[in-house]
Amino acid sequence: MEKVHVKEAKGKLGVLTVGIGAVATTFMAGTLIARKGMGVPVGSITQLATMRLGKREENRFPKIKDVVPLADMEDIVFGGWDIFEDDAYEAAKHAEVLKDEDLNKVKDELVAIKPMKAVFDQQFVKRLHGTWVKSGKTKWELMEQVKEDIEDFKKKNNCDRIIVIWCGSTEVFTPMSEVHKSLAAFEKGLRENHKDLAPSNIYAYAAVSMGIPYINGAPNLTVDIPAMWELAAKTSTPICGKDFKTGQTMLKTVLAPMFKTRMLGLNGWFSTNILGNRDGEVLDDPGSFKTKEESKLSVIGNILQPELYKELYGEVYHKVRINYYPPRKDNKEGWDNIDLFGWLGYPMQIKVDFLCRDSILAAPLCLDLVLFTDLAKRAGMSGIQDWLSFYFKSPMHEPAKIAEHDLFIQYVKLKNTLRKIINEETVDFID
Ligand SMILES: NC(=O)c1ccc[n+]([C@@H]2O[C@H](COP(=O)([O-])OP(=O)(O)OC[C@H]3O[C@@H](n4cnc5c(N)ncnc54)[C@H](O)[C@@H]3O)[C@@H](O)[C@H]2O)c1
Repeated sequence: MEKVHVKEAKGKLGVLTVGIGAVATTFMAGTLIARKGMGVPVGSITQLATMRLGKREENRFPKIKDVVPLADMEDIVFGGWDIFEDDAYEAAKHAEVLKDEDLNKVKDELVAIKPMKAVFDQQFVKRLHGTWVKSGKTKWELMEQVKEDIEDFKKKNNCDRIIVIWCGSTEVFTPMSEVHKSLAAFEKGLRENHKDLAPSNIYAYAAVSMGIPYINGAPNLTVDIPAMWELAAKTSTPICGKDFKTGQTMLKTVLAPMFKTRMLGLNGWFSTNILGNRDGEVLDDPGSFKTKEESKLSVIGNILQPELYKELYGEVYHKVRINYYPPRKDNKEGWDNIDLFGWLGYPMQIKVDFLCRDSILAAPLCLDLVLFTDLAKRAGMSGIQDWLSFYFKSPMHEPAKIAEHDLFIQYVKLKNTLRKIINEETVDFID
C-alpha cells in the first residue's frame, strides 16, 4: 500500500459559511463554547468517536482526533456571508436555537463575526428579500468579489487555510443544463450572466478556483456538476455534498437497510414534517421544496434495490412533505408512517415521531465536514469526497459509481478512509 503523507495542520483554519442563519450560528457558537470547555460537542465524530486500530485482540481504540492529524478546534476562525447585515450573535438570537445562557458564553466572539455582503438573486430564493448584497454587472464580476472577500479574510485573520461551507437557504430547483456540463461553458455563462447559474455556483467557483475545499450543506446542484468536477481536478480541490443528513433521512437510511437485511417487504412510506424556522419558510416555496424533495426521495430506492427484489419493493409508494408551521421554530417534528409486510404478505406498520432540533443535529456535521475536508486537502485528495457520504442526504459520487445511502456502510467507509490516511489496515465492519 502506498504511504499517505499528510501536511501538518499548522496555523489558523478560516471557516467561511455561506449563510449565517440557524445552522451556521449554532455551529459557530457550539464550536466556540466547546473549545472553552463549557459544553460537549455531542454528535461530532471528529471530537468524540474512537476508531479501532489493528486486530481486535490488540484492544486499541484511540479517539479519532488523537490519531488522525486533524486541525484543532482552537485554530478555527469563523467568517461568512449573508444577505442580512446581522452579526452572528444577532442572527443566532433571531434563529432561537440556543438559549441566551449559552449564547452569552461566547457573545463577544459572535458579535465580532460580521457577514460579508452576499451574492444573491431572488429568482433562486423566492421567499427572502436580501438587503446586504453585492452588485456587479456580471456573475463573473460577482465571483471576483467573492474571491477578494476570501483573500481579505485570509490576510486579516492570518489564516493558513480556508474552507467554504454552504449553510445558506435552499435554492430553487435547477436541472442540469449545458452551462453546467463543462468548465468552458460554465465560465462563459458567468461572463454572460447565464440564467441557470445560481449564487451558490458563484461562491463555489470562487472557492474551488482558489483551491479552497467547498462543502454543500443544501440540495442545490452547486458542485455536483461536471464543470465543478473539472475545476476541482484542475485545482486539486476536495468538494462534497449534497444536503446534510440530519433527521428524517438519517432515520430512513437506518430503517430501510433493516427491512432489506431481513427481507421484509414495503408497500409505502409517508413522511411529513412541520418546521417553523426560516429554512421552513424558504421550503414553503414549491421551487425550493422541489430541490429538497429530489434529495429526500432518492434514498429508499437506492437502498432497497427494487430491480433485484420486485416482490418486496417493486411497488413502494413514497411521499415526503414539509409544512411551514411557525410556532415550532427550529424544533422540527417529523412523522413517518411505514407500511411494511412480512411472511405471506401480512401487513404491519411502524410509526416514527421524531421531535428533533434541526440545527442541533446539523451543527456537529458542519464541524466534522470542515475538519475532514481540510484533512483531505492536506492529504492531497481532490475532487468528490465520497467517503464523506455519511453526512449527506444525496451523497455526491463519481458518475461511474452508485451513491451509497446505508448509514452504517457509509460509516465503515468513513473510518476506513481515515485508517488509510494514517497508513493503518482497514476493517470491513463496524467497530
Ligand atoms: N438543519 C438541518 O437539519 C438541515 C439539514 C439539511 C440541510 N439543511 C440546509 O442547510 C441550509 C441552512 O439551514 P438553516 O436552518 O440555517 O436556514 P436559515 O434560513 O436559518 O439560514 C440560511 C441563511 O442563508 C442566508 N442566505 C440565503 N441566500 C444566501 C446567499 N445567496 N448568500 C448568503 N447567504 C444567503 C439567509 O439569509 C439565512 O440567514 C438550508 O439550505 C437547509 O435546507 C439543514
